[in-house]
Parts: sequence; C-alpha cells; structure tokens
Amino acid sequence: MLKNKLLISGLSVSYFLHNKSINAVDNIFIELKKGESLGIAGESGCGKSTLVSAVMRNITPPGKITAGSIFLDGEEITKLSDKDFDSRIRWKKISLIFQGALNSLDPVYTIKNQIKDIFETHGQPYDNQNVITILENVGLEQSVLDKYPHELSGGMKQRIVIAIALLLEPDIIIADEPTTALDVLVQAQIIKLLKKLKEKGISIILISHDLALISELVDKIGIMYAGKIIEFNLTKEIIFSPKNEYTKKLILSTPQLGQAL
Ligand SMILES: Nc1ncnc2c1ncn2[C@@H]1O[C@H](COP(=O)(O)OP(=O)(O)OP(=O)(O)O)[C@@H](O)[C@H]1O
Ligand SMILES: [Mg+2]
Repeated sequence: MLKNKLLISGLSVSYFLHNKSINAVDNIFIELKKGESLGIAGESGCGKSTLVSAVMRNITPPGKITAGSIFLDGEEITKLSDKDFDSRIRWKKISLIFQGALNSLDPVYTIKNQIKDIFETHGQPYDNQNVITILENVGLEQSVLDKYPHELSGGMKQRIVIAIALLLEPDIIIADEPTTALDVLVQAQIIKLLKKLKEKGISIILISHDLALISELVDKIGIMYAGKIIEFNLTKEIIFSPKNEYTKKLILSTPQLGQAL
C-alpha cells in the first residue's frame, strides 16, 4: 500500500465573529498519497484558502481549528509545537504559495536579500549557485536577484514566489490561486512550470476556482462547497462523469469543459 503523504482527517475550522460564527471548513477528509497531486476547486468563499491555511498553521483569531487532525508522512503535525512545525515542516516539507503572494514580496529589499533572509531564518548558508539553478528552473535569469519587486512583471514576481517555495526542497507545494492575477499567456506558463515540478516528483496541491486550469495538472480533484468536500475523485471522473449536481453545474459553467458532458 502506498503510504499517506498528507492526511487531513475530520478537519473543521470556524471563524468566531462577534455576532455569528462561520464554519469555513466543515469535517473535511482528504488523502494525498506519495507522488500524487491534488486540486481543490470551488466558488469564492467556499473555504479553500482556510483549508490550506489550516494545514500550514496560518489560522489566526478569530479563526480556530475546532476539530480534526492533519498527518504528514504518518506524523500528526497538528500536535507539533509552532517551533517544531516552523523548523521541520514549513518550507522544508510543505511550502505554501498563498493567495496574492506575488504582491507580498517586500518592496524595500532586493530579491536576493529576500531569498537570503529565508536561508538565514532556517540556519542555512546562502548558496548562490543553488539559487541560480532554482531560478533557472522557474525560467528566470540570475539578474532578477539584484532587482526590487517593482522592477518585475506580475509573472516574474509569481515565478520568484514559486522559486522561494522551492528553496528548501519541499515534498509538497500548495499553490493557492497561483495564476489568478496573471494574464492568460502567463497563466499557461505558470501551469507549465508547476507541471514540470510535478514531473520532478513534487506533489502539487493546486487551489483554484478555475476547474479547467486545475484539470490540466492534477491526478485527483476535490470539489468544495460551503466548507465541505462534496465530491472527490480522479480528475477524469470529475470532468467526464461527475456525480454531484453542483459539480455538474461547475463544469457546465466552465467554457473549456462544458462540451465534455
Ligand atoms: N480572517 C477571517 N475572518 C472572518 N471570516 C473569514 C476570514 N477568512 C475567511 N473568512 C470566511 O470564511 C469563509 C471561507 O473563506 P476562504 O477565504 O477560505 O474562501 P476561498 O474559497 O478561499 O475564497 P476565494 O476563492 O475568494 O479565495 C468565507 O465565508 C469567508 O468570509
Ligand atoms: Mg481563497
């Protein structure tokens, strides 16, 4: 039997606001096996970012994990201390490219200094040759190292964010809407890049409202609606023989996929 890479078991996350609480993630089970890639699709506000934030411990008040566990390679990572999680898991085993990350590069530092900072916080030396190789892998020239974020295009910034996610050689990269802010041509380039990483054996978890985009890349898709995974199956099953009415609606509303049904 293939070992579980990532297992999300009975996970619930709520936001406790002053007059109500929102169950943003509601009793979710997801299993990612070694080498598999996964897509999560669903409309805005269904809980996609909350789900991956919970995996990466990025839920802060008023949000709270109210139930469930997350296991990585058999270890319950929801039980780790923040210190352990940060030193052993974040960037080293799982990297998250969060939604809007391309706009989060620090405007006052060059790309090189931002990359140096990540190595430093993990007690690792900055290896220029290694960084240049990673930049090449994402289709960037080393001259970007001396640039400030405002000197780069949106597509270049997104590649840098992906390069940063790759620095410490994680097994899993979670990409939350990695192409949303980009034009169609650059979108296609970023998906090609993620495909290349997948072929190198990195598991990709791709989050998007765009089912057509997701289906190009991943082995399995979970359709999310109002905090729940309402259908989970192999990509071709989801696209060509969806069982759930909402999944069917989602496919019919995606022009590139609508003809498939
Ligand atoms: N920090 C927060 N405080 C309060 N409510 C929040 C917070 N973050 C998310 N929510 C709520 O939780 C629900 C899920 O939000 P989430 O951002 O996870 O959705 P999403 O599927 O990623 O949406 P999108 O496709 O727009 O990125 C929404 O109802 C949202 O309003
Ligand atoms: Mg989101």
